[in-house]
Amino acid sequence: MHRTLWSLYPSPQQVAHAACQRILATAAAAIRERGHFRLVLAGGTTPEQCYRLLAQQSANWSRWHLYFGDERCLPTDHPERNSLMVATALTDQVAIPAAQVHSIPAERGAEEAAAAYSAQLAESLPFDLVLLGMGEDGHTASLFPGQHHPPETLAVAVHNAPKPPPDRVSLNYTTLARSHEILILVTGASKREALRRWRAGEPLPITALSTGGHVTTLVDQACW
Ligand code: 6PG
Repeated sequence: MHRTLWSLYPSPQQVAHAACQRILATAAAAIRERGHFRLVLAGGTTPEQCYRLLAQQSANWSRWHLYFGDERCLPTDHPERNSLMVATALTDQVAIPAAQVHSIPAERGAEEAAAAYSAQLAESLPFDLVLLGMGEDGHTASLFPGQHHPPETLAVAVHNAPKPPPDRVSLNYTTLARSHEILILVTGASKREALRRWRAGEPLPITALSTGGHVTTLVDQACW
C-alpha cells in the first residue's frame, strides 16, 4: 500500500504554480503515451488559481478531456457551480473542444445526474490524472465522512452534505482511484486540523483516496 508523497510550499501561490507545472508535464506524457489526457478537475476554491495559470500556458488542448470530481445540484449559471468556476478560470480561455469538457448535469437532480454521468464515465476510464481538494472535515470531492455509497457505482448521488449545498453528485472512491496519478492540493490554516488527522491515519474520505498508488499532495506552510 503506497502512501502519498508530500511536497511543501511557502504559499498557496507556489502550490498553484507547482500544480500547474505538474499537470502540464503529466498531460504531455499521457498524450505521448496514450494520445489523450483525461483529467478530473477538483471543485471548490483551492484549485482556481492553478486553473487560471493553466489558461496562460500553451498545451496540446485538442487532446485534453476534462471531467469533474463532483458538482453541486444547482442551476448551470449559479455562482456556486464548479462547472462555472472552471469555465471562467480555464475552459473559456483555451481551445479544449467543448465536446471534451464533460460537466456533470447536476442541475437535473442528484439521482438522474449520477446515473447519466456513470454511463459517460464507463467509457472514460482509467483517468490520467485526478485532482482533489480536501475540506476541513477531511472530505474530498463530495465524499463526506459517515456517508457510504455502493462501491460498484461510478458516480453517486449525495444528499445532506454538511458543506452546502446539501445535494451533490460525486465520483465514487473506486472511480477516483482509477487513475494513473492523483494530485491533492491543500492550503490554508483552516485545513491544518484535518491534515493532522489525515496524517495520523484517521479513516477520513481523503485517507481512503490517498493510500493507492501514485498519489502526490501539495501543501502550503499554513496548513502543514
Ligand atoms: C466542492 C469541492 C470540495 C472541495 C473541498 C475544499 O465541490 O465543494 O469539490 O470537495 O475540494 O471542499 O474546498 P476549498 O478548496 O474551497 O477549501
